[in-house]
Amino acid sequence: LPLATGCDSGGGSDEGLIQSGDVPLPARFSLAFKRPPVIKPASSDGTTDYFDVRAYTTRAEILPGVQTEIFSYNGTFPGPTFSVRKGRTAVVRTRNDLPVPLVTHLHGGKTPEASDGYPTDLLLPTSGWTAAAHQHGSGLTMEGVTAEGTRSYTYPNAQRAATLWYHDHRMDFTGPQVWRGLAGLYLVHDDEEDALPLPKGDRDVPVMIMDRAFNSDGSLAYPSIDPTLKTTPGVTGDAHNGMTGDVILVNGVPWPKLEVQGARYRLRLVNGSNARRYRVKLDPEPDAGEPFTLIGSDGGLLARPQLMDSLYMVPGERFDVVVDFGAYAPGTKVTLKNSLGDGSTAELMQFVVGAKAADDTSIPSTLSTVERLDPAKAVRTRSFTLARAREDGHYVYKINGNPFSTDRIWADVKRGETEIWEFTSTTHHPIHLHLSPFQVYKRGGSTTVNPEDVGWKDTARMMPNEKLSLLVRFDDHTGKFVFHCHNLEHEDMAMMANFRVS
Ligand code: C2O
Ligand code: CU
Repeated sequence: LPLATGCDSGGGSDEGLIQSGDVPLPARFSLAFKRPPVIKPASSDGTTDYFDVRAYTTRAEILPGVQTEIFSYNGTFPGPTFSVRKGRTAVVRTRNDLPVPLVTHLHGGKTPEASDGYPTDLLLPTSGWTAAAHQHGSGLTMEGVTAEGTRSYTYPNAQRAATLWYHDHRMDFTGPQVWRGLAGLYLVHDDEEDALPLPKGDRDVPVMIMDRAFNSDGSLAYPSIDPTLKTTPGVTGDAHNGMTGDVILVNGVPWPKLEVQGARYRLRLVNGSNARRYRVKLDPEPDAGEPFTLIGSDGGLLARPQLMDSLYMVPGERFDVVVDFGAYAPGTKVTLKNSLGDGSTAELMQFVVGAKAADDTSIPSTLSTVERLDPAKAVRTRSFTLARAREDGHYVYKINGNPFSTDRIWADVKRGETEIWEFTSTTHHPIHLHLSPFQVYKRGGSTTVNPEDVGWKDTARMMPNEKLSLLVRFDDHTGKFVFHCHNLEHEDMAMMANFRVS
């Protein structure tokens, strides 16, 4: 439905654009594309792989010749990529040597409550932390704190192959902590997907897109960057309606260039940005055929491929596409563009097409079996309105009239039941549910949804004044989990809610 309407240009209607200071930015497409390192298990047994992750502050050369302080998982930005198999448990032993608490959430994971990264389930720094230091506006108490220094997160990986990602989820500070680097990819593989003749190996390419801005001294620009800040970010001003920057990073590299062969590639597109929406396109498009064949989304393979000339991506969403660079003449420079951006944010990365290469891949017309959730089985419909209000000169973000609190339950659901959840707002909010994947049922009352909506999802765009209806079956785990706006600054300002599965 709504493409690049007026309010969609320039990265969004009213998100705050942070411009980089007087720091040298590289020419677009001058730097080499990079894949984040893949983490190897420290040990493995018959059922489980054990990984060691240390979070710490370090410096990275993101801009050439400039050192930038980052919050890192294992020293890199983005953090290491996990490559795991369905059915094998991953235990991530995490040590927090940052100066601040962290909470790791596996986005898209069907993770039991104890390891899901509830916003107050803090992993305190090894250097210590005091209760007084983190009492602030939203009433966070020490309740829920489970660990000091080190802890393990256990992921059963009892789910189909999919492109997931992990990131910090600390109450009130997710935006600044992700902005500083606490995010990475988590790829689940399974036999079903491996058996398909899709591009693999070097031709399976992660494309994690994050926008950032830099201060003149090379540090990342984020107005509430002070980790000891005692007030809730954003409540005293208008600067935190969503942070967007003027530098596009792909896998942590500004506007990189990737040399590809004339063959099919799988691109795992991940919008890891705090608040920026993208509509990605290829320029030029191939002479024949659509540029993108969409094969998967948040929750893994679609039933059937979808041909698309552009893809709309809100923060948190993932799309797996196949692009056939064999359809271009050798030497062609193909730019991945963002039609919602302008200037430096209108271009993301570039592919330089080399010689035609042997290619035995294909895209089957049936990729997988995707069960359609049946609306007739829904036991109830719940409605959620997301709204921002000006109160006493401050912005307040609420779901159904209430800002997030740890003890309020917005939805009590029974394990195994299917429900319809409807979301409305007058402004953009990417909707994300933890734990159980959903399907888009209706948009604006119509069951004709976007091609991006056809598969299993955990994050979906909600467009202004367009009711978004989701079908979700809570058949994974019991416990208390959150759903929230995935504009991280909205989330930090309490646009988040609990659901409880019992
Ligand atoms: Cu990607 Cu609750 O977050
Ligand atoms: Cu929002």
